[in-house]
Amino acid sequence: MTFAPGKIILTGEHSVVYGKPAIALAIDKGIETIATRFEGSSYCTGPVVDETLWKAIRTIVPEYGFKITFRSSLPVGKGMGSSAALSVSLCREMARIQSQDLSLKALLEQAMKMETFFHGRPSGLDHTVSALGKAVLFQKTTTGTKWDPIDFPTVDVLIVDSGTTGSTAEMVAKVAMYAHTAKFQSILSKMEMLSMQIVEAITLNDFNLIGQLCTQNHQYLKELGVSTPAINDIVDSALELGAWGAKLSGSGGGGIVMILGDELSKLKRYYVENGYDAFITHSYSTTESSIDKHGIHNV
Ligand code: PMV
Repeated sequence: MTFAPGKIILTGEHSVVYGKPAIALAIDKGIETIATRFEGSSYCTGPVVDETLWKAIRTIVPEYGFKITFRSSLPVGKGMGSSAALSVSLCREMARIQSQDLSLKALLEQAMKMETFFHGRPSGLDHTVSALGKAVLFQKTTTGTKWDPIDFPTVDVLIVDSGTTGSTAEMVAKVAMYAHTAKFQSILSKMEMLSMQIVEAITLNDFNLIGQLCTQNHQYLKELGVSTPAINDIVDSALELGAWGAKLSGSGGGGIVMILGDELSKLKRYYVENGYDAFITHSYSTTESSIDKHGIHNV
């Protein structure tokens, strides 16, 4: 059984596609995959196995000889990195069962192949965070990607499901329609600055400030047109109830809102009583020290 974590993005979704820095946290919820040898055509069981998912899995799993089972503690398709966590856990599990060494470079390449199948043109943020298993400052470069692991203490994050699901490929395509405008370029610059401010706030351990900067990021995502009225209602009510900050996380068009604050159980109760799916998750950090260094991955 191999676990890979999901993620939430503190800042930089969408702007990361255009080479700006993003910060994401690995979280303690993710995907567990188990592969067993099997005489016959390979097949898969799991919560949501459709044709697309199976074709994506087949980019890694040979046609014959394996049964794949996975289970998810993440809501699927809600911006919490479920496809990336599946990609990473499957690549690691297939290497394990075939007694192959899997370098980080090879893992990132294989997971990118699967993610590309799911999303078309991913920045690589989601599967890099999942593969590294800790908070990361991530950037897409002209030749590949680079990342800096960030020491991020264990914090609680409240997740509230807005009730609908957005498509990453559609949302990225929607944003691309405005990419030539001056307004878009100005938002990109502001998001870049915000990421640097969040890095600084993390160094200071100032979670109240991190929350405020996350809310600012949400404002920019609204301006990019990827939020929804349901998401905005959740963000507004969280702030009214005293949260430090709240934002959509992921591509938007639906999905979840992440909320930082010091009274998250009280906030969670409010959302559950009002009919939302809500849960508290924690930032996750692998104990593997080998990935505690800056990385560059050229493709
Ligand atoms: O797939 P999601 O919803 O977690 O979004 C990923 C973040 C984007 O910046 C919107 C896309 C990308 O490839 O980075």
